[in-house]
Amino acid sequence: MAVRHFLTLHDLSSGELHALIARAIELKALWRSGGGFEPLKNRVMGMLFEKSSTRTRVSFETAMAHFGGHAIFLSPRDTQLGRGEPVEDTARVLSRMVDVVMIRTFEHAKLQRFADFSRVPVINALTDDHHPCQLLADVQTFTELRGAITGRRVAWIGDGNNMCNSYIDAACQFDFELVIAAPEGYEPNPALVAAAGGRVHLVRDPREAVAGAHLVTTDVWASMGQEEEQAARAKAFANYQVDMALMACADPNVLFLHCLPAHRGEEVAAEVIDGPQSAVWEQAENRLHSQKALLELLLCDPSWAADR
Ligand code: CP
Ligand code: NVA
Repeated sequence: MAVRHFLTLHDLSSGELHALIARAIELKALWRSGGGFEPLKNRVMGMLFEKSSTRTRVSFETAMAHFGGHAIFLSPRDTQLGRGEPVEDTARVLSRMVDVVMIRTFEHAKLQRFADFSRVPVINALTDDHHPCQLLADVQTFTELRGAITGRRVAWIGDGNNMCNSYIDAACQFDFELVIAAPEGYEPNPALVAAAGGRVHLVRDPREAVAGAHLVTTDVWASMGQEEEQAARAKAFANYQVDMALMACADPNVLFLHCLPAHRGEEVAAEVIDGPQSAVWEQAENRLHSQKALLELLLCDPSWAADR
């Protein structure tokens, strides 16, 4: 059987993704009840990080430890990849030793090249273009707190970045309406928007995006690698802060999510992220549970994902 990767949400079927979310909720309950489950005994994950991380690193390392396996943190500072060893060679070597590889890097094409040469599943832990693991946690969080996301209205406010692109993929796979409010010049990938058909709409006015929304979400104005654009971006995004006035345009039962790290006073007001509509800490914890379900799906061929 061909090795399965998770580079974008389109690498799993819609049925598999729904089953994965249900499984993540089960694994969370099992973990909270103190139940042990070690399907990855003696299995090893390689973790290649070319950008910083708190949540992604800790959630994957913890997931592997809970599952009875092990994770190896690799950074360009202390691997030959950082000294110019080709990504194809690194992929061939690592995938003869470890059972799964997680990569956080800049160009999505580099991740794709790694996957093309890997004998084991490769997981996208964030590229400049996508952050699919985060969407698993986001959908799990919404599902737990508000029920199924299918058919709901989601508002994305701000930069058309990697997270926004993955929200577009999620709108297709989980079948919800996504309204994106981004300033001119910062819209998401137009090919992704076009491929999403009628489910995704672009507007300029954040209030229009948020009107009646069941979920409001945003992200930093300058992503990793864009630090030098911070000042220009702060100007362009000045009217795109998610504050209490904006949240008041949404559905009364709206949920606020943010992948974190957040910049209070920039993309989100402190009253919102620290207020009762926000579920960002649950969302962060759910990285652990949803990625456990992802690892189980990719490495264990579980019956809960069969025939999807
Ligand atoms: N949300 C997220 O991916 O966080 P980290 O950058 O801390 O991994
Ligand atoms: N868009 C952000 C997400 C961080 C988790 C970045 O790429 O820096």
